[in-house]
Amino acid sequence: MVSRPLKVVVLAAGKSTRMKSDTPKVLHKVAGAPVLKWVLEQARSLQPAEIIVVVGHEADAVRKAFASFPGTRFVTQEPQLGTGHAVMQARAALAGFEGDLCVLCGDVPLLKPETLVRFLADYRHSKAVASVLTARFPDPTGYGRIVRDAQGRLTQIVEQKDLVPELADIREVNTGTYLFDAAALWARLDRLTTKNAQGEYYLTDVIQLLCLDKQPVAATVCEDRQEVIGINNRRDLAMADAVARGWIMLDLMLNAGVTILDPASTYIEVGVRIGRDSTVYPCTAIHSGVVIGRRCEIGPFAHIRGGTKVGDNCKVGAFVETKNAVFGEGSKAGHLAYLGDVTMGKDVNIGAGSIVANYDGQKKHQTEIGDEAFIGCGTVLVAPVKVGRNAQTGANTVVPRGKDVPDDTIVVGIPARELKKKPKKQ
Ligand code: UD1
Ligand code: CA
Repeated sequence: MVSRPLKVVVLAAGKSTRMKSDTPKVLHKVAGAPVLKWVLEQARSLQPAEIIVVVGHEADAVRKAFASFPGTRFVTQEPQLGTGHAVMQARAALAGFEGDLCVLCGDVPLLKPETLVRFLADYRHSKAVASVLTARFPDPTGYGRIVRDAQGRLTQIVEQKDLVPELADIREVNTGTYLFDAAALWARLDRLTTKNAQGEYYLTDVIQLLCLDKQPVAATVCEDRQEVIGINNRRDLAMADAVARGWIMLDLMLNAGVTILDPASTYIEVGVRIGRDSTVYPCTAIHSGVVIGRRCEIGPFAHIRGGTKVGDNCKVGAFVETKNAVFGEGSKAGHLAYLGDVTMGKDVNIGAGSIVANYDGQKKHQTEIGDEAFIGCGTVLVAPVKVGRNAQTGANTVVPRGKDVPDDTIVVGIPARELKKKPKKQ
């Protein structure tokens, strides 16, 4: 069977009133990635011909953040008159398109690709002209409710604010995820009105119009309701974040062979790689993009920020903060250190209380530390500076910027002066 063309429309123009934020909600982060990034990745998992993102509130900031996301085009909704109105704004961009449209809400970040693929397969199989992804919530407050007829067929979606008492017991909700035959959708969008509690054009009303026209409408239930959390306020954001982190840590434990002693106090963002037999101790935060090798010990209370690469057999211990730090194999920072913009060779030891002072108030600078160097407790390395191979700094040494420490030497004091040669290591 030749599959029909598919395009995705992502709704991301809303005002985010309930977030009480100056930042649009689609740019708030879940496990280190903006909410809309998650949604665009979902969209991509369907391999559509194109993704159209409807932006409005803080449109420039949203466009800028995703300008380079592949296969996307932006359209503007101004003013924001509801989800139905948002889809209408994509119509010109879709002129002449015949096929299926998947509409995703820009504030539902955790839908798994396999759920979307199953949703699409069910829809195609059903031969319906529209389908809704639904879920069952113990507490459906805030979501649109799924109304079914005596035969179990979806007939209508009723918003929380328009709910009549007879429908108050419905636990099945609209996830805000839809598939439509494009022609069937456009014909109904023209007939939407704003006669509802919020005075908006509701996309959800298209379903009722299709049913009144005796058009076949399908529904797929998403079994894991965690996937369809919609982010309307900070509570939803915290819930989605907790779910995402749980999945990320589960993947590291089950698939990568990482020990995470206390997942409840560990914060690992999306896009972190950790090698087999590494252990993460409690109260540790590891940011997106960090790569950690095998058999490492991380934490407790480590803060490992972006750009950090840790080789095999390393230790990043208690109260160590790193940013853009490269640890060569076997290097250790056991306790209380700040390591920013620094490249360390193999088997480097960073003593307790040491600081790489990478920022001069205006710019960040790089530091290099050679293989087997031993940085004594309380050392300050003022960047840019190099510490040679097998060099050593005494306790409380301050190495000024540009005063590179030669290989195989010991320096001490403030400012650092050479004390003696060290025996060369083979
Ligand atoms: C919507 C659904 C509701 C569903 C819920 C799932 C409608 C009318 N209601 O409600 O049935 O249970 O999602 O999470 O569709 N947006 C625009 N332009 C607008 C308004 C909204 O682009 O004018 C975007 C928002 O940025 C957001 C999405 O559409 O990403 C959903 O809008 P939101 O206001 O959050 O709708 P809900 O009240 O959550
Ligand atoms: Ca929402």
